[in-house]
Order: sequence, then C-alpha cells, then structure tokens
Amino acid sequence: MKVAVVGATGAVGQTMLAVLGESGLGVEQLGAFAQRAHSEELRFRGRPVDVQPASDALLSAYDVVFFAGGDVASRQYVPSLLRRGAVVIDNSAAYRLAQGVPLVVPEINPDVVGAGDRLFPVGNCTAIILCMALEPIRAIAGLRSVYVATYQAASGAGRAGLEELAAGERALVYGEAEPVGVVFPAGLARNVVPQVGALAAGGWSDEEEKVAQETRKVLGVPDLRISATCVRVPVRTAHAEAVFLTTQESTSVEALGERLARAPGLRFHVAGIVTPREVEGSDLVHVARLRAQDSSGRRFALWAVGDQLRKGAATNAVQILQLLVAKGFVRA
Ligand SMILES: NC(=O)c1ccc[n+]([C@@H]2O[C@H](COP(=O)([O-])OP(=O)(O)OC[C@H]3O[C@@H](n4cnc5c(N)ncnc54)[C@H](OP(=O)(O)O)[C@@H]3O)[C@@H](O)[C@H]2O)c1
Repeated sequence: MKVAVVGATGAVGQTMLAVLGESGLGVEQLGAFAQRAHSEELRFRGRPVDVQPASDALLSAYDVVFFAGGDVASRQYVPSLLRRGAVVIDNSAAYRLAQGVPLVVPEINPDVVGAGDRLFPVGNCTAIILCMALEPIRAIAGLRSVYVATYQAASGAGRAGLEELAAGERALVYGEAEPVGVVFPAGLARNVVPQVGALAAGGWSDEEEKVAQETRKVLGVPDLRISATCVRVPVRTAHAEAVFLTTQESTSVEALGERLARAPGLRFHVAGIVTPREVEGSDLVHVARLRAQDSSGRRFALWAVGDQLRKGAATNAVQILQLLVAKGFVRA
C-alpha cells in the first residue's frame, strides 16, 4: 500500500509517522508532505524520509492519504483524491460534520463505515477523548446530558503552540518580559486561558461547538444536551476533561465502573488519580474519579485524560485504516 502524510512536519503529522510505523500495516511506499520544502529529516520505520511540498500531482501516486495539514490543505487536495478513488483519512475539521460522511472512532462506531466510503475525517481530539469515556456509559444507561470543562495541552495548537509555551516559560524563569504571543489569546506560561479557538456569536468558542456537535455524531445521540468550557493549560501534551453527566436510566457507580473497566481502548482507574504527564505517549484514554453527584442513580462525574496527538488524532487515524483493511475495503 502506498501511503502519504500531508502535514508530516507538524505535531500531528510527526505523531502520524510514529504511530503508522508502530502499526503492523504493510507500507510499500511512504510519502511525507508539508506546505514548504523542509531540510529537517523525518524518519519512518528507522529510515530517513524527505519532506516535499504537497501538490495534486505528487499526491495522486498514493492509495491512502492521511491529512494533518489543517482545513485549508484538506479542502485543497481532498476532492481530487476522492475523484481518483484514493482513501482519505483527515485530521482537519473540514469534513467532519458533512452529511453522509462517517465520523469514526473504531472502538465506538465501526459499523458506520460503508463499503463505498473513501473519506474518513478524524474527530476533534477533545471530542474523541470525551466519547471514549462516555460510550461505555451510554451503552448501559443512555445519556441525557453532558457538561464538560476541559484542560487542553499546548500541543493541541500545533508546533507553534508548544514553541509559544516554551518561550513564555523561559522568559518567566529568567525574569524577562514574556514575548507577545500569536497562538494563544493570553500568555499560557504559569496561567490558564479560558478560550480555545475563535469565539463566535453567542459567546461559545469554535472548539466548544466542535466538542458538542461531534460528540453527538460519534455517539449517535443527536438530541444529547451537551455543553463544554474549553480551557488551555500549560501542559505540553494530553488533554484532561472534568465531565458531569446525566444518564437516561438509573444505574450505579459500581455498574458503570464495571463497564468502563472492560471497554476497549480505555483504562479505568477505580481509585486514585491520573494526570496528563502520565498518559503522554499512551494510546489509551484514562478514566478516573468516577463518582455519583447525588442519590438519584442518574447523575455522575468523572475525570478523563488522553494523549490528544495519539488517540485524539494519529492513533484514531491509523485505527481507521486498520478497520478498513479488516473489513476488506482496503487491500493490505
Ligand atoms: N495538535 C493537535 O492536538 C490536533 C489534534 C487533532 C487534530 N488536529 C488537527 O490536525 C491538523 C494539524 O494540526 P497540528 O497541530 O499538527 O499543526 P502544526 O503543528 O501547525 O502542523 C501543520 C502541518 O501542516 C502543514 N501545512 C500547513 N498548511 C499546509 C498546506 N496548505 N498544504 C500542505 N501542508 C500544509 C505544515 O507544513 P509547514 O511546516 O511546511 O508549514 C505542517 O506540516 C489541524 O487540522 C488540526 O486541527 C490537531
């Protein structure tokens, strides 16, 4: 199989190369593309890989193209790849909510994939982590409402986000003026910033809208009452989420814990806590601090943490390709 990664020099793109390399997938040719030519050397399965500027002509040589180059790159290159019959797995937000396009989290909704589907957006990283924690609960008790406050890592804003956090931290350590940032709406070092993405009409940020809309789509609960407050924190990688939920049916902490403990792709911590630094590099979503809000049997709270560059992006993308191979929709 000939596989390309667009945006290969970025935070998600580099993780894509790592996760794809670790997978058992047979890759006969790997192409790495970015916006510009790069002198930096990337590696895939131990071998150096050149990075080339993306173009329709170069991408047309590949059977499967992973996108991690942002909405503009996806809108520019995806349509012609689909006309050629290539499989596109896209980390951008460009096509996630399009009618008839499946939004797949393989542990949750593998059956939404049809034999003729070629376009597979990967959901928003915060929404994927949330859905992984919610699906086992939805499966046994249904979901009526979900309220979530997020604690999102700097790498969620890409390499530039990581660099801006590091520059701010350095300045504060040396007692210098913090450089004026361009990525975050306020200095992130030693701070928390209650805005992720642009603020839209009504006061919600576009990240908060994505979390709500994509969670409904992935879980297949279109009338789910859900709202998020998305907050950036000075963590390098892995998003955390404090979740408050109401189920449709009465259940218990014990029943939910038992179901969470056997959910694929998830590690349930019966006791204790789990933090972003501990889960960096893990493909699992971690759930801890499950508790009842009251004695109703319907209102619960939990804490979910996941590496957003892996399960929130690259790992989910590679799992989609593995699912297509397993279903016989793509030849390995
Ligand atoms: N970061 C996360 O946690 C995360 C999680 C889930 C999804 N996503 C999504 O994944 C995508 C990439 O995010 P990121 O955080 O990895 O960003 P990033 O670190 O800024 O990297 C962006 C990459 O895309 C390339 N690129 C930009 N415009 C391009 C174009 N027009 N044509 C081809 N390549 C282009 C860049 O190339 P140059 O280096 O040449 O500029 C770079 O390789 C975004 O859509 C983002 O929303 C990110």
